[in-house]
Amino acid sequence: MNEEWVQRLYGLLLQQMKDGIILSDADGNIVFVNDAAEQIRKIKRDEKIGKNMLDCHQESSREKVTRALQYLKTHEGSVFSRMVTDSINDKYYENVYTPVFDEEHTLQGIAVLSRDITERRKAEENKAAYQRAQEIAHEAIREQFHGLIMTSMEMLANLLEARDVYTNGHSKRVCDITTKIYEQIYGINEHYLDIQWAAKLHDIGKICIPDAIVHKPGRLTTDEYEVIKQHSKLAGDIIRPLDPGSRIWPIIRYHHERYDGNGYPDRKKGKEIPEGSRIISIADAYDAMRSCRPYREAMSFEQCLDEIKRNIGTQFDPEISEVFFELANTGSID
Ligand SMILES: [Fe+2]
Repeated sequence: MNEEWVQRLYGLLLQQMKDGIILSDADGNIVFVNDAAEQIRKIKRDEKIGKNMLDCHQESSREKVTRALQYLKTHEGSVFSRMVTDSINDKYYENVYTPVFDEEHTLQGIAVLSRDITERRKAEENKAAYQRAQEIAHEAIREQFHGLIMTSMEMLANLLEARDVYTNGHSKRVCDITTKIYEQIYGINEHYLDIQWAAKLHDIGKICIPDAIVHKPGRLTTDEYEVIKQHSKLAGDIIRPLDPGSRIWPIIRYHHERYDGNGYPDRKKGKEIPEGSRIISIADAYDAMRSCRPYREAMSFEQCLDEIKRNIGTQFDPEISEVFFELANTGSID
């Protein structure tokens, strides 16, 4: 086979390839630029041949290029690529740098292959945008579904309360007070709905307690009190499987814990108790005292405040109590 003809074929091939090709000698002096490289890199072949690769880069990036070329020169078989953005023409290019060594492992030159990756890159960007949109849509459906389940639970809790004239509307009132305290501290944020759901459902565990105890018209015996104490743990157990993010059920489970650690079900103390539970605890106690019971009249506003004040630091969180009093003294809670 005619070697000259083969060499000419190589030359034509390199010249006509769709990828841009720039070849330099071992010192980085450019010896070859094909048509595609002229087009892609916006350079003129005649101006670049004989010049050093470094001169084709801006002053600011020369140090980086020098380091990269040095790496290639000393690492046979290594290749590295850089993505270049042409924001004026909205194009993306990938430049692949390859050192060329001879049989004696001596560097003979460096090849830079420039490929237009705009389509691939845009397809990847579109795919990422599509995936993100899908995630957002799924999240919205999940939230809707979650709201639907919680609404069903709320209806159940309301039904339970409606059977007893003394507790009718209790969870709604607790929710209102809880919301006011929470909003006073944080405003409306991403946990706002969770704390509202917890307040609305805090006593749903009573559904598992015998009616004779829940609706007993008189004071509970010690044994009956032990049974009804189960309701906060039971409520947490009911909501837990419906609350995959665990945003609500812990608040419900611990709403009868006390700040001094003498509450139930787990005798948690202080800040170990979820903040939502500490808020509901004070709202729950206030509403229970303000409502009449078969064995006692409703307590007055002042009596309730005195009772809460007496239990700051033992039953109630001092900081949350302070917010509660701020709201009560300014007429937001009555
Ligand atoms: Fe409760």
